[in-house]
Amino acid sequence: EQINKGKYEHYMQKEIHEQPESLTTTMRGRLIRAGSCKAKTVLLGGLKDHLKTIRRSRRIVFVGCGTSYNAALAARSIVEELSGIPVTMEIASDLVDRQGPIYREDTAVFVSQSGETADTLLALEYALENGALCVGITNTVGSAIARHTHCGVHINAGCEIGVASTKAYTSQIVVMAMLALAIGADTLSNQARREAIIDGLFYLPRKVKAVLKLDEEMKDLAKLLIAEQSLLVFGRGYNYASALEGALKVKEVALMHSEGILAGEMKHGPLALVDENLPIVVIATRDSCFSKQQSVIQQLHARKGRLIVMCTEGDKASVSVGGSSRVIEVPQVVDCLQPVINVIPLQLLAYHLTVLRGYNVDQPRNLAKSVTTQ
Ligand code: G6P
Repeated sequence: EQINKGKYEHYMQKEIHEQPESLTTTMRGRLIRAGSCKAKTVLLGGLKDHLKTIRRSRRIVFVGCGTSYNAALAARSIVEELSGIPVTMEIASDLVDRQGPIYREDTAVFVSQSGETADTLLALEYALENGALCVGITNTVGSAIARHTHCGVHINAGCEIGVASTKAYTSQIVVMAMLALAIGADTLSNQARREAIIDGLFYLPRKVKAVLKLDEEMKDLAKLLIAEQSLLVFGRGYNYASALEGALKVKEVALMHSEGILAGEMKHGPLALVDENLPIVVIATRDSCFSKQQSVIQQLHARKGRLIVMCTEGDKASVSVGGSSRVIEVPQVVDCLQPVINVIPLQLLAYHLTVLRGYNVDQPRNLAKSVTTQ
C-alpha cells in the first residue's frame, strides 16, 4: 500500500498531485494539432460512428451522481455552445424517481468514474428502454456502464483509490470538453473558438502543475479554517460547478458543513447567512461573469463577509476589498477549462483541512468509493 502511495501520505494527496500526468493521459492521441493539414481537431475513437446521430439529437441529457454530476455541469455550457444543442442535467436517482421524459431523439450521456454506480446504471436502463442514444464516460474499461451504453469515451485517468474523487473529476471535464469539440467539429463558424480550446488543452497540464504550487498556501488557509462549522463557496457560469465540487470535497472528507452557491442566487436567501464569522470562498476568475462577481464581492464585503477570493493571477488589486479578506491567485486558461484549474486549490484545501482535523482522508466515514446499491 505504502509503495503505491509513493512519496505521499494519502491516496487523495497523491491523486491531487498527479493531475498533470492524468490529464496528459486523458488527452493522449486524441488531440490533433500539427501536421500538413494544420487543422486542429479532436479524435474520440469510441464515438466516431455515432457523431452524426449525436449531432442530429434534439437534446443532450447529462446523467450522473456526486462528483461525476458536477463534472458534467462544468462542461454543460461548452457542449451547448459548440453543439448548438440544448443540454439538460439529471441527477441519476432523480431521473429514475421522476421517470422523467427521455426520447428517441435524445443523446443521454452517463458520467461515472467507476462505471458501476447503481443509480446511474438504473438511469441508463431507463434511457435505453426509452430509445435514447446512450453514451458512457467512465474511468473503468469493462464496467457495467461501459458495456451497456451504445458508445463512449474512457477518461483514462488511471486507478483512483481515494473515496473523494479528484483526478477523475478533472479528466471527466476534459473528456466532455473534447466531446463538445467533436460534436461541433463540422461547424465552420466556431472554428477559431475550437482551436483556442484545443490550444488550451495542450497547455492545461502545465497550468495544473503551476496551480499545484499553491499547496502550502492552502495548508495555511486550512489552519485558519480548522475550527469552523461551515464554509460557503460562491461561483457562477463555468465555475458554478467548481463551487459545488469544492464544497462537496470539504463536506465529504473534512466533515465540515459546506455549500456551493450559485452567486446569481445570492440575494434569494444565502445573503441572510453572511456575517463577520462565516468564511466564504468567492470564485472570481476572468471570464464573461467577472464584473458580476466583482459586484458580488462588494456586496458580501458591505455585509462584513469573511472573504477568501479566488482570482486570476495579476488580478489581486481588482478583487481586493481590504480588511481580513484573503486572495488566492490561479493561472488563467481558456474560460471553459478554467474549472479544471479552479477546483484544485479547493481539493488541496479539503485535503489539508481533513488531515489537520484528524479525519480519515481516504476512507471518510459512512462513504464508499462506488455505491453499487440503491
Ligand atoms: C460515490 C463516491 C463519489 C462519486 C459518486 C459517483 O458517492 O464517493 O466520489 O462521485 O459515488 O460515483 P461514480 O463512480 O459514478 O462517478
